[in-house]
Amino acid sequence: MLYKTIGVSGPRISAIGVGTGGLVGVDTPDYGRDEGALASLALSFERGVTFVDTAEVYGAGHSEEVVGRAIAGRDVVVASKVSPENLTPERMRVSLDNSLRRLGRERIELYQVHWSNPSIPIAETMGALDDLAAEGKIGDVGVCNFSLRELEEARTSLRHARLATMQAEYNLFDRSVEQDVLPYCQTRGITFLAYSPLDQGHICGSSARRDMLAEIAGRYQCSVGALALAWLIRRPPVVVIPRAGRAEHAGQNAQAGSLVLSDADATEIDRLTGAASAIIPVNSVRAAPAGGGGKVYRSLEEAKANIHHMTPSPSELARQMLDGEFLKPVRVRRADNPDEGYEYDLVEGRIRYWAWVIAFEGKRDIPVLIRER
Ligand SMILES: NC(=O)c1ccc[n+]([C@@H]2O[C@H](COP(=O)([O-])OP(=O)(O)OC[C@H]3O[C@@H](n4cnc5c(N)ncnc54)[C@H](OP(=O)(O)O)[C@@H]3O)[C@@H](O)[C@H]2O)c1
Repeated sequence: MLYKTIGVSGPRISAIGVGTGGLVGVDTPDYGRDEGALASLALSFERGVTFVDTAEVYGAGHSEEVVGRAIAGRDVVVASKVSPENLTPERMRVSLDNSLRRLGRERIELYQVHWSNPSIPIAETMGALDDLAAEGKIGDVGVCNFSLRELEEARTSLRHARLATMQAEYNLFDRSVEQDVLPYCQTRGITFLAYSPLDQGHICGSSARRDMLAEIAGRYQCSVGALALAWLIRRPPVVVIPRAGRAEHAGQNAQAGSLVLSDADATEIDRLTGAASAIIPVNSVRAAPAGGGGKVYRSLEEAKANIHHMTPSPSELARQMLDGEFLKPVRVRRADNPDEGYEYDLVEGRIRYWAWVIAFEGKRDIPVLIRER
């Protein structure tokens, strides 16, 4: 297993971690999945994984409870996250105490801001994290889903603690962080935690590309998923946090930490992967495709009213966009039924899509990544 240091001086962790978002429920606990999740986590730890990522919001706290059971008596580094609505000093203290209780620990080694909250200054949040680090209740500080400007502000606001990690999406389909965030992290000693590293099970976009990767994987006697993870962790700052409900997947993912890809194969994977990007009219996208599920905004009015109480809201993100903040492209797929007037269905980025429409009053084309079949 390959091991890396968190930040410049944090604990050593396995380059293959485990993610637990959605493992035992999304917005509410799904107790029926506990036993499978515990078996999968145990197998990961037995195969050399020493890093687990959770959050106060996952399964409404239940993910932390299950992680607490899984790590009891084990030498595993835990990362958790505080939600954007809890970023004031008072609320963060309550959140942290609840997370510590659920995890059964006295300290969280890596405490991360899950999303920024435009109505709470970053310096105030970093001050609160500094205090908690000084008290020894948390170790290193991390952030997730921050723009480059926010990242720089977070890094330079901390006095006591160090900004040790940045967490964002990175996989063989969406490689946009390679342009700016990854180089930023590399030069400043920040570990990059790649979430959705298997593109939520799609792994690399199309089935044709997957077949080509399978051929390479055959040479290493590993699965395509393991090959993808092994390729991602070749970059020095990158640690991946795949989620595996099935123990079989957990075993494959742990194996990725010991695979050494040849330069020729790594170059071939580089050539085969990455999404097709485009800039398309906003009204060619169906924002709420049938069967999409989850909390979607069906109209501009619903998005402006933020009927799902998301933080940041579409209007708050729109203000950031107007200030020139980088927000990654939304993800679309060719519409199942283009006769209905939409060429594309939105598959990811419901808040960013409406933020773009609000910011530019529906008049500016939107950058997208196009998912192939
Ligand atoms: N900070 C953030 O805002 C944020 C956002 C998203 C995610 N995350 C974190 O990142 C973690 C991982 O991301 P994710 O859950 O979105 O997606 P992911 O890890 O890319 O994909 C998970 C899916 O891939 C499948 N899978 C796992 N290993 C596999 C393998 N070797 N081969 C084929 N399929 C495999 C899983 O199936 P089974 O479950 O059936 O095994 C599951 O359906 C989350 O759990 C969470 O901790 C953080």
